[in-house]
Formats: sequence, structure tokens, C-alpha cells
Amino acid sequence: MSAPTETPTNKPAETLSEAARRRTFAVISHPDAGKSTLTEALALHAAAITSAGAVHGKGDRRGVTSDWMEMEQARGISITSAALRIDYGGCVLNLLDTPGHADFSEDTYRVLAAVDCAIMLLDSAKGLEPQTLKLFDVCRARKVPVITFVNKWDRPGREPLELLDEIEQRIGLRPTPLNWPVGIAGDFRGLIDRSDDSYTKLHRTPGGATVAQEERLDHDRAAEIEQDAWIQAREELELLGEIGADYDEESFLAGVSSPVLFGAALPNFGVGQLLRALIDLAPAPSPQADAAGVPRPIEAPFSGLVFKMQANMDKAHRDRMAFVRVCSGRFDRGMVLTHAATGRPFATKYTQAVFGAERHTIDTAFPGDVIALVNAQALRVGDTLYEGPKVEFPPIPSFAPEHFAVARALDAGRYKQFRRGIEQLDTEGVVQVLVSDVRGEQAPVLAAVGPLQFDVVKHRMEHEFRAPIELAHLDYGLARRTDAASAPILHGLSGAEVLTRRLDGELLVLVHNKWRLRVIERDNPGLVLEPLLAGG
Ligand code: G4P
Repeated sequence: MSAPTETPTNKPAETLSEAARRRTFAVISHPDAGKSTLTEALALHAAAITSAGAVHGKGDRRGVTSDWMEMEQARGISITSAALRIDYGGCVLNLLDTPGHADFSEDTYRVLAAVDCAIMLLDSAKGLEPQTLKLFDVCRARKVPVITFVNKWDRPGREPLELLDEIEQRIGLRPTPLNWPVGIAGDFRGLIDRSDDSYTKLHRTPGGATVAQEERLDHDRAAEIEQDAWIQAREELELLGEIGADYDEESFLAGVSSPVLFGAALPNFGVGQLLRALIDLAPAPSPQADAAGVPRPIEAPFSGLVFKMQANMDKAHRDRMAFVRVCSGRFDRGMVLTHAATGRPFATKYTQAVFGAERHTIDTAFPGDVIALVNAQALRVGDTLYEGPKVEFPPIPSFAPEHFAVARALDAGRYKQFRRGIEQLDTEGVVQVLVSDVRGEQAPVLAAVGPLQFDVVKHRMEHEFRAPIELAHLDYGLARRTDAASAPILHGLSGAEVLTRRLDGELLVLVHNKWRLRVIERDNPGLVLEPLLAGG
């Protein structure tokens, strides 16, 4: 284990106390559950931005926004990931944005490698939806503790007990409500805090543009005003007490139970309670295991993990940015780090904190924080940067691709730009690039988890690299890892093709579908055909 040393830049005691007040988390949800609205509401509560509508980047309310690419605006979805820092209650909350669309779950997977906690956001009328389930699986695989926020309680939805039951039955997560709604979904009156049994009545503010007005009422007054809704809520609470659905720290941190909060992000109901839950319950950064499985103390010299690459975030600066999660030590802008993959020095003169599309230069950062390194051409997703003795974190596993297409430059005269663009998108992890002697350098195969990734490639190749491409879809549906001995045999079979993954030299065989794969396995028992990771 690397000893926590005191260096001019690293002061272990300071690092420990700063890390203790960091909460680094992401929101996992199905599109439209209200992630952008919740992000905005959290920032609003913490007064990080002055008026609602600044983060939620739809319509004309653009401003501090987590989606900045033209295409994202046109589609209204968030493709790239940004970090939002919220200072609140003496803590620093780092909210890492996750792309909502299913096709970008690979990106989300990487973000989930950089957080200590996740908020699972549910629409009260819909409960668990496909994308939520998929993302929850990633949290489970990584043992990320999950806080559940049941959103849109101001609209007609399902019964609270029924929603809790669904969480328990479908994903085996034991729900432990921290608050309880008075009034059914669509007739939201207020929230009972289960920790002290206090009742807060909520008053709607126009458009949710300010922090919702809250009024504390004693039980007698609440019973008088809320009548049947109050009686029902009290009965349900009694039931919860009987079944022992109480918050339990150990099982929450182990990813076995989930504290649940009811609320509505749009009118800012229950958002303050969510912020408090993050501060009181969500874990602070803890020692991260390195590639050898040895936990690196957070007060050890600086180390960080690259979890996201992004090019050209700002039209004015044609650059390439690496998002780094600080794992240990204190970061000071200007320090020279070592890039674990190459052993080369990496200067950090240009370091920024990214708040939506805005950038601020940052001078110091601590474990749990996200820094953006500019001019990061040499870095790749999963890379480690460190100060002092070498440390390297395990690579972030990638999802198994299911869609494949051959890319060709439309203008042969721009082949140089074509090659540079494809290489860059590969390094960023936008798609995986596969090559083979048979197809040649001019026709690389792009591999994606979801077809929308191809649209991003097409768009960026045309607008960013000025090398428009055409894509010819291939009739393969899955990939397996193979080896040099099996490759020639597989290559001779129909319905299979062996290619090399450009980034790591891994040999992959592409197959039409799982039936074809079964036939190949049956007829050629000695071949190496290992599954690639799918979600954890
Ligand atoms: P997403 O990022 O998860 O995709 O969801 P987003 O925040 O964009 O919210 C999806 C829709 O749900 C939005 O309506 C938003 O206003 C609404 N919404 C989010 N939270 C709440 C809530 O607590 N209560 C109610 N009633 N609605 C909520 P939209 O009409 O699709 O978009 P917009 O025109 O309002 O921007």
C-alpha cells in the first residue's frame, strides 16, 4: 500500500477533511423521468444558479446546460457527460451527468465508475422502466449505493406502497422510505419526515421557479386540514413500521437497501430532503482498489481516473478534454503528473471545472472532485494519472457491441481527416473501431452498443473533422473475444468474421446471431469464444 506522504502539494490531514465533505453521485433514470428538472432543482435549492430554467436545457431556456452539442439540442437528449458542482450545507456535491438515451449506456457505465452513490429517479406513474433497470444493474455490479427518488408526485400516479413493492419484487432492493407523502400522486399535500415524524405542508410556487414554500404543521392541525389523506398516510406509515422498512446504513452502503424519497422536482417538492439525504447518508469518497486490488488511501498523493473523453466541447476552443475523477490526494493546477499507461509526464497547467457548458479554471481539487484536463490528446478512458510512486487503477470494462457498420470517407481526397477523426472517436470511446487486413485501412468497422452512436459519428465526422462518411450496416449482432490460434479457423466459417480492436489489439469475432454462434461452438469445440462484458 502506498504510504500517505506529506509533499509540498499533498497534506494528508487536509485531504482527509476535504474528502469527507465530498459527495460524488449520478442520477440514473429512464428518459423523461425528470433528470434535467431534478438537476436544476438541486442546483436551485443550493443556490448554485439564480433562477430555474438554467440547467434544464430545453426550449429557449438554455443557459448553464449539460448538453452542448448541436445535435443534442436538436434531439433534446443529452449525449455527453458533464459534471456539476453544488456547494451546500458545508458539503461539496459533485453531480455527474449521465446520458439518458439507452444507446449511450456505455457512457453512463463509465460515469458510474466514477461515483460513490447514485440517485435512482422514478416517474411516480411509471415506476421502474427499462433504462432504469439496465442502469440499476450497473450500480448493482459495482456495488454503488442507491437512493431512490419517486418524482412527479404532483401528477396522477401509482400508490406509494405499490411502487415500493415493485422495487423490492423486481430488483430485489429493499426500500426504506425516509419520507412519506400525504395525498395520493396528483393530489400532493405534503411530506411526513419519518426520522422525527414531522409534517411539512407544501405550497406550490408558480412554475417551480423558486424554492417551494414549506409550512410545518403539528399533527392535530395536519389532521384537520388534510383529513382523509392524513388518515391514510398515518395508516400506511404504521404498516411500514410493522414491516420494519426503516433506514439501515449497513445495507444501504452494501447496495442491498435503498432509502426512498417521494417528491416532485418541477414544483421543487421534497428536493431539499433529497439534498439532506445526500449529505447525511451518501458515502464520502473511500479508498479505491488499484489494479492489484490494493486500496489506495485517499490521503495518499494525487491519483485520478479518466472516465470520460470529450472533444470540441466549445466551438471557440477546438480541444480535447479528459474528465478525471480524483481518487486520492490533493490536486493543484500546474502539478506535473505521470500518465500510468505510458510513464510519460502530463502537465496540468490547463485544468478546468466544467459546470454545464461553462468552464472555470480550477486551482485545487480533492478526492471525489472531477477535473477536466484540456489538451488531453494522450489520454484514454480508464487511464490513471498519479503523483509520486506508480499507481494504476483497473480499466473500466466496456459493453459488448451489438451493432456494426463499415465506415468510408465520402471524399477520397480527405482521407487524412477521415483517419484522424475515426481514431479520435475511437479513443474517446464514442464507438469501438475494428480493423482487418481483408477490409483494409480505408474501411474500418465501427462497433456500437446502440445505433444512435453511429449518428453521432456521422455528425461529428462531417462537422468537426470535415470528412463526411457513409456507413454500410453489417449483418452481425454479437461479438466474442477470440485468440490468434482460433482466428484463422473462425475466419473460414460463413457468418463469422475476425477483426482486431484498434485500441487494444484484442481479436474479436463477429457473428450474425446467437444461433449461429451456438452452431459454431458445437461444430468447433476447441475454439476460444469468450463473451465480452455486458453491463458489469
Ligand atoms: P429527463 O431529463 O429525465 O429526460 O426529463 P426532463 O427533466 O426533461 O422532464 C421530462 C418532462 O417531465 C418535462 O416535461 C418536465 O417538465 C416534466 N417533469 C419533470 N419533473 C416533474 C415533476 O416533478 N412534476 C411534473 N408535473 N412534471 C415533471 P416536458 O413537457 O416534456 O418538457 P418541458 O417542455 O417542460 O421542458
